[in-house]
Amino acid sequence: MRILHVAAEVHPLVKTGGLADVVGALPPALADLGLDVRLLLPGLPAIVSALQQRREICNFGAQFGASPVRLCIGRIASQPAPVYVIDAPDLYRRGGSPYQAADGSDWPDNLQRFALLGWVAAQLAAGAGDPAWQPAIVHAHDWHAALACAYVRADPRCRSMRTVFTIHNLAFQGLFPAADFGLLGLPQEFMQTEGLEFYGRLSFMKAGLVWADRITTVSPTYAREIATPDYGCGMDGMIRHRAADVSGILNGVDPQVWNPLTDADLPAHFSAQQLAGKGSCKQALQQELGLKPVAGALLFTLVSRLSHQKGIDLLLEALPAMFASGAQLALLGSGDAQLQAALQDLSRRWPGQMGLRIGYDEAMAHRMIAGADALLVPSRFEPCGLTQLYALRYGTLPVVRRTGGLADTVLDGDEAGSTGFIFDAATAPALQGAMQRALLAYARPAHWQAMQRQAMAQDFSWQASARQLALLYQSLS
Ligand code: ADP
Ligand code: GLC
Repeated sequence: MRILHVAAEVHPLVKTGGLADVVGALPPALADLGLDVRLLLPGLPAIVSALQQRREICNFGAQFGASPVRLCIGRIASQPAPVYVIDAPDLYRRGGSPYQAADGSDWPDNLQRFALLGWVAAQLAAGAGDPAWQPAIVHAHDWHAALACAYVRADPRCRSMRTVFTIHNLAFQGLFPAADFGLLGLPQEFMQTEGLEFYGRLSFMKAGLVWADRITTVSPTYAREIATPDYGCGMDGMIRHRAADVSGILNGVDPQVWNPLTDADLPAHFSAQQLAGKGSCKQALQQELGLKPVAGALLFTLVSRLSHQKGIDLLLEALPAMFASGAQLALLGSGDAQLQAALQDLSRRWPGQMGLRIGYDEAMAHRMIAGADALLVPSRFEPCGLTQLYALRYGTLPVVRRTGGLADTVLDGDEAGSTGFIFDAATAPALQGAMQRALLAYARPAHWQAMQRQAMAQDFSWQASARQLALLYQSLS
């Protein structure tokens, strides 16, 4: 079965969050099951320069105000199958992030940039992009690719085509002025309330919610949450309406990238049986961050975008009491300027106990998750969350809020079966209570080690998720 995955990011070339990790790892896992999976990506600079054996297969001329627009095929290192790349220099060849300029403002032509991504997906589905390879299913990820579902639906050549849409985060909806609808080249009836219209604007996300044959999201709990007003970001009615077609399939861990026995970014390696190397990782991390070299101090870590979603404000409130109890923190993140400033301020007040790195640093993320004892994910909502999965694999026990994929992957129950510490209310005292429980557990080394082994024994490989997706694809054919 031929399946085209459409996305704006792919690890390790372009990454702003977990979406890239998923897009990097899921197609190979599906290919292992015998599916013929290819990726369609926008020609962002890092993607174009990494493309090997590049061949132009189609020239679309001028599209969405850009010229030329060419479809290329080639190879990138992490993918077993060829990938398609849209080479449209006017829209994609620029610095900054895929979505924003360096000053944090959205690119003014994001509508055209991501409409083109969806439109080219539909051309491939129609057989007009690559006559040698026509997918049976187009699988679009997040709002950036969602318009593929609309273009496929609008195209009479795509009658037998099926689409799947995966919501990685319902809070990012791809909203644009309604007046720009004309730029999309879609039939006028696509702009109804039962279409792209969303409270007087147009939403790319809705293209996936309205026209995809199946909708998935990245954990069973988040699939239930988004059907409620608290988590539905105004789209819960729509999700309830599509309830029969919505499912939650957990993300997995890419063992090529996250494996404590082989991880090239670590100063020492370890496994559930041989945990000594983890102690060396902790020592090295304490030294690197200027933390006091105390082996018995519980070292928390957090690796995250710094945003309201991630509950960083709760953490800021809970930390002083934790530091007063002797705990340490290694924090790596970037995002909201106010949160960054507050964290910098706090780290100045707790030298030797708080090591802060503002920025984006993949190798540092590995060293922090490996070297710390416990990982904090105090998110207000978390569709899946990947850092807690990586932490579990590295014997770093997660302290998480009971929401989304965090609730589905961390066990906090009787002594024998626990892998972490869960709290319920999105408040600083609740978070502090869970961190306190972590401190108490850490004071019992045999118990802590038993939890670590239990955590490291969990299976969050992509195989199980890929199998569920393969069944979903089969149900569509
Ligand atoms: P989200 O996609 O909402 O940001 P996830 O937990 O799914 O959250 O994925 C985040 C990914 O980004 C993980 O791979 C994590 O290690 C990585 N990451 C987040 N912030 C940083 C950072 N400052 N430096 C390096 N990696 C980071
Ligand atoms: C989103 C979510 C995160 C999820 C990731 C990959 O960015 O915020 O929870 O893990 O997508 O699906």
